[in-house]
Amino acid sequence: MNVLLIGSGGREYTLAWKLAQSSKLGQLYIAPGNGGTSAFGINVPLKVNDFDGIKKCVLENSIQLVVVGPEAPLVEGITDFFKADAELQNVAVIGPDQQGATLEGSKEFAKAFMAKYDIPTAKYESFKAETLEQGKAFLETLNAPYVLKADGLAAGKGVLILDDLEEAKSELSQMLSGKFGAAGDTVVIEEFLSGIELSVFVLTDGKDYVILPEAKDYKRIGEGDTGLNTGGMGAVTPVPFAQGDFLNKVEERIVKPTIQGISAEGMDYKGFVFIGLMNVNGDPYVIEYNVRMGDPETEVVIPRVKSDLLELFQATAKGELSQCTLELNPDTAVTVMLVSGGYPEAYAKGKVIEGADVSVENGLTIHAGTTEKEGNLLTSGGRVISCTAYGKDIEEARKRAYNRVDQIKFEGMYYRKDIGLDLL
Ligand code: AMP
Ligand code: GLY
Repeated sequence: MNVLLIGSGGREYTLAWKLAQSSKLGQLYIAPGNGGTSAFGINVPLKVNDFDGIKKCVLENSIQLVVVGPEAPLVEGITDFFKADAELQNVAVIGPDQQGATLEGSKEFAKAFMAKYDIPTAKYESFKAETLEQGKAFLETLNAPYVLKADGLAAGKGVLILDDLEEAKSELSQMLSGKFGAAGDTVVIEEFLSGIELSVFVLTDGKDYVILPEAKDYKRIGEGDTGLNTGGMGAVTPVPFAQGDFLNKVEERIVKPTIQGISAEGMDYKGFVFIGLMNVNGDPYVIEYNVRMGDPETEVVIPRVKSDLLELFQATAKGELSQCTLELNPDTAVTVMLVSGGYPEAYAKGKVIEGADVSVENGLTIHAGTTEKEGNLLTSGGRVISCTAYGKDIEEARKRAYNRVDQIKFEGMYYRKDIGLDLL
């Protein structure tokens, strides 16, 4: 079967690497892909939200399955676009419809969904410009720190956590007057949850599900979780503080009611649910839903999946996930993201990357923001390459990942040296 994978990051590189191992795969296309994905298929220079271009590519290349990597095309309704088009109706799409994608596209929608299906999450209320004064009054009823969330997609910058009540009131007022554009027309204010974060990933066909390995992400740019938020500077799976009883609670209290809710709401949801969780004294609470895999979590989670990913996607598309079992590799995987100097703020592009093509044992060199030009591999994004390594435990996987990091060079290269260190 011919497959089109949409996206260009480390997540998509990892999915391409895994799909290419399937005996069921005909030709893989990646739109637009990156400087490494052409090892697994044909890169097609299309924007991820160019639905007409994607349609043309699907028809010209007899593509039968489309895997959507990032959230933007899902929130913009790519799955609905396929369903509504007579020529595309029979093409399977891995990724929810627009209603399902609203679980990520609107924090208020996600919170209301959790309330309706009794899924543990922080207490909240939401406010608009007209209800600013009520919002300020609500803040007064809470204890610091104060959590303010722009309702819509705000490129990961829409969540503010503030210690001071007056500052929280002032930020609320700025958000409601357009600080984050339309994404902040509604602001969710919620109770602060104190605990350790991790993420759980589920593949669902809308009725049944399989749970993929959990992972911990390192979101801040600086060591010791300091500085600006990034897309993610590294990840680890499995997460030692979240095993056995905790994961059972996640399945019973969160995964099951989430899938029941998806089904009861009539969402056409064949794809991933990424559940961001807080472990509060051993009890899981949902921080957020994403409707796609995480990046860089995919770079550690997918290498631990032994089962054929294309077979899992085919079963998902047919609504036959109940017949699948997921085979996992018990190893620990650690990934360390190499980024361009200056990221997540302004950074230079076009720097020559050396050492990325060395073959590695017990790991993977995952391209994210790379591009190929006249035989050179160049940087083309903030997050450039993710070095994933496997080992019997975090210590071994970390050592191997950092050994790999030492072999790669580009001007301005930066990475965190403490990925997984807190879990030892
Ligand atoms: P979100 O975009 O909703 O995932 O929020 C971004 C980050 O803010 C999360 O990864 C958490 O670290 C933090 N956060 C969000 N909501 C809360 C909360 N209710 N309590 C504590 N931290 C939170
Ligand atoms: N690493 C977090 C995310 O993919 O949203």
